[in-house]
Amino acid sequence: MRLLITGGAGFIGSHIAEKALAKGWVVAVVDNLASGRRENVPNGSEFFQIDIREQAAVDTVFAEFKPTAVSHQAAQASVAVSVREPQMDAAVNITGSLNIMTACVANKVDRLVFASTGGAIYGEVPEGIRAGVDFDPVPISPYACSKFSVEKYLECFRIEHGLKYSVLRYANVYGPRQDPHGEAGVVAIFCNRILAGEPIQINAKREAGDAGCVRDYVYIEDVAGANIAALEGKIPDPILNVGTGQETTTQQLADILQAALGNKVKVTPSAKRAGDIERSLLNADRLVELQGDVVTIGSGLALTAEWFKTRLANG
Ligand SMILES: NC(=O)c1ccc[n+]([C@@H]2O[C@H](COP(=O)([O-])OP(=O)(O)OC[C@H]3O[C@@H](n4cnc5c(N)ncnc54)[C@H](O)[C@@H]3O)[C@@H](O)[C@H]2O)c1
Repeated sequence: MRLLITGGAGFIGSHIAEKALAKGWVVAVVDNLASGRRENVPNGSEFFQIDIREQAAVDTVFAEFKPTAVSHQAAQASVAVSVREPQMDAAVNITGSLNIMTACVANKVDRLVFASTGGAIYGEVPEGIRAGVDFDPVPISPYACSKFSVEKYLECFRIEHGLKYSVLRYANVYGPRQDPHGEAGVVAIFCNRILAGEPIQINAKREAGDAGCVRDYVYIEDVAGANIAALEGKIPDPILNVGTGQETTTQQLADILQAALGNKVKVTPSAKRAGDIERSLLNADRLVELQGDVVTIGSGLALTAEWFKTRLANG
């Protein structure tokens, strides 16, 4: 396998790169380092610093590296930024994705795996429900709109050009190397603040003082593993939720992380943030059926806390 990973200098892409190298695949990373870091790109992978908005640059990389599979992780990944700069979000997430898809078709790439979002695409998920892939998407941010539209383009490219693809709708992904600005950024923010002995804030689900919003936090290993399985053609479904189906409030997250990091800090209740989805929860039964059990929030947060602790200790 010759795997090209876009966004491979970022959180999720760099974990996919590590797993792919461990399988003996030839790996190349494309990233413009907008939010990613060069040091995240694992040794042994080729690195192309280009912007996926530039079709000519994308074409040159494909011609040079000749990928047989592509894992498309590069994105403007912040909901807040997408609200402030919807044109920029669309340029990276839609036009950039179209550049990758066009290059995949032109170079007869066997399979394209696309990082979509279960955390944002379904909108509010009512109490008692876990959103399955049959749940009607209600994209309520430019970011969710751009991800949803790429899903539609992929189906269109399959029909028009025979492009084989897998869409993975991630829940809120957390783990080592995560960025505080991503969809599960709260885990990184809490780890850094708890370790520094600084207060943490619980943004309300509805009213200040409640337990905060409900999220489905999925550990990075499960996300990277689902990507590898999809690249190997082991995920027959065109769209798959990658989550845990387990709901966690921000308060629960704060409690688990303080215990894992062995430090108690002041917890400040705060008002609801405009635009925050109150409850997001995925039905991940199909992922478990295909890939086996997922990492529980307790184990995943313990591993993540350990990584943040070690990073602090090493300066
Ligand atoms: N982290 C989550 O919880 C989460 C949840 C759902 C979906 N996703 C999606 O997963 C993917 C990876 O997210 P992440 O958390 O690793 O984010 P990240 O910001 O760490 O990684 C994204 C990478 O894309 C690169 N990039 C951005 N714009 C680019 C451009 N124009 N050209 C080339 N490279 C560019 C960045 O430099 C970065 O390295 C994204 O597509 C994101 O939308 C993430």
